[in-house]
Amino acid sequence: MNDTIATILKHRSIRRFSDQPLADSQLKEYIRAGQMASSSSFIQAVSVIRVSDSANRAKFAKLAGGQPYVESAPEFLVFCADLSRNRDRIRRDVAAEEPDFSWTEQFIAATVDVALFAQNVVVAAESDGLGCCYIGGIRNDPEQVTELLALPDLVYPVFGLCLGYPDQDPAAKPRLPIEAVFHQNAYPERGETDVVLDEYDAEVADYYQRRTNGKLNVTFTQQMAKQSASQTRKFMGEYIKKQGFNQH
Ligand SMILES: Cc1cc2nc3c(=O)[nH]c(=O)nc-3n(C[C@H](O)[C@H](O)[C@H](O)COP(=O)(O)O)c2cc1C
Repeated sequence: MNDTIATILKHRSIRRFSDQPLADSQLKEYIRAGQMASSSSFIQAVSVIRVSDSANRAKFAKLAGGQPYVESAPEFLVFCADLSRNRDRIRRDVAAEEPDFSWTEQFIAATVDVALFAQNVVVAAESDGLGCCYIGGIRNDPEQVTELLALPDLVYPVFGLCLGYPDQDPAAKPRLPIEAVFHQNAYPERGETDVVLDEYDAEVADYYQRRTNGKLNVTFTQQMAKQSASQTRKFMGEYIKKQGFNQH
């Protein structure tokens, strides 16, 4: 196995960091790695905002549901889907008519760009021994994030990312069996993957029991049921539209 794959397979989210800072040049190298991710139609619809202001860090930690590592991580980045930059440039230099970035397809393309960019950043940082934790919790209050970061229309915060040298060494979290996610020629018949998924449920329950000294005993399916029942962030559709995305 090569070093890149070994790095990827060792991934686990890190939520406790040492105080060791990152050099500016180092962080920029990871951002450059992010920029080299593929981009739908070359739109490059990503802006990354480094939050270094400590008062704002505290606000992010709170609005993300009280996640202390958002405040204490050496770096906290907010990854935004950004069609505003392209829109403004077209308006200035090209437009015979008003550019239109309001379609669902463009919203999806911009969001996918952000995810690919960010994962390149994560892999680059992890290959240097750093640890990361994505923070979807910032979407608990997208309006406040928009205000804190002065985001214009056609920009929205997809997730945050904590970054730094690990001060913990958690076990890797078991993933779904490959038979449940990788198929040939067609989607599997309903029930075809039941056996491997049952085994996976047991494996996840065992993982949580070990990780919590027996306090948590929950299968993957039970966890997903709880997650779907929680109906989190039902306001996102409205917020996204308000930012000018996904009108039709
Ligand atoms: C888009 C996204 C948002 C996430 N948001 C949070 C978050 O707000 N807080 C957190 O502690 N972990 C968050 N995570 C981390 C996941 O919980 C974690 O990746 C998952 O449980 C798998 O664990 P692992 O990364 O350790 O393998 C997020 C992950 C992703 C991809």
